[in-house]
Amino acid sequence: MKFFVDTADVAEIRALADTGLLDGVTTNPSLVAKAGRPFREIVAEICAIVAGPVSAEVTATDAEGMIAEGRSLAAIADNVAVKVPLTMDGLKACKTLSGEGTMVNVTLCFSANQALLAAKAGATFVSPFIGRLDDIGLDGLELIGEIRTIYDNYGFETELLAASIRTVNHVRLCALAGADVATIPPAIIRQLVSHPLTDKGLDAFLADWKKTGQTIL
Ligand code: E4P
Repeated sequence: MKFFVDTADVAEIRALADTGLLDGVTTNPSLVAKAGRPFREIVAEICAIVAGPVSAEVTATDAEGMIAEGRSLAAIADNVAVKVPLTMDGLKACKTLSGEGTMVNVTLCFSANQALLAAKAGATFVSPFIGRLDDIGLDGLELIGEIRTIYDNYGFETELLAASIRTVNHVRLCALAGADVATIPPAIIRQLVSHPLTDKGLDAFLADWKKTGQTIL
């Protein structure tokens, strides 16, 4: 499963990219607003840091507007993936932009039928929002499983990008359900590495090693 980080915070992205664990980045208008800097500048900086896909979302709501914005965003760097909402206009824009060789991430997906349409529109990625489904008492992970089955049934190449991930358990369950990608907030990525038994075990090894009086180098 590929790991994308879900943030527009360039400092966070740089730190995570240094670990070598990052396969891409997703942003959305809310994350850009939080970063409080010019959108195009942020996208250009992120694209220079991370070689993988960097999702940048359009804000027009009509297909023509989305296509124009998408072309403009795609011109920033080769690794921009234009993010469009899962509406009829968004699907139309997806078809056009994909046909021009631009990566497209169809976002705000909340049902298997919507994901089926995104694949038929030639999306590079579809982003089901699991946390937001959980928020309203539905099962976000069930949706990941359904999309996996549908895409496998028909050999769709659209990558299943699990979004709106809120916990480390979401990450584990997405991997078990066969998501191609998980886009994860920075804090959750850092939590993935932590285990109290790892810390305890390392402390014990280092204490015993100290007793030997040896050095490796
Ligand atoms: C990513 O593409 C989405 O915009 C993001 O994961 C949404 O997460 P949220 O539901 O926590 O805002």
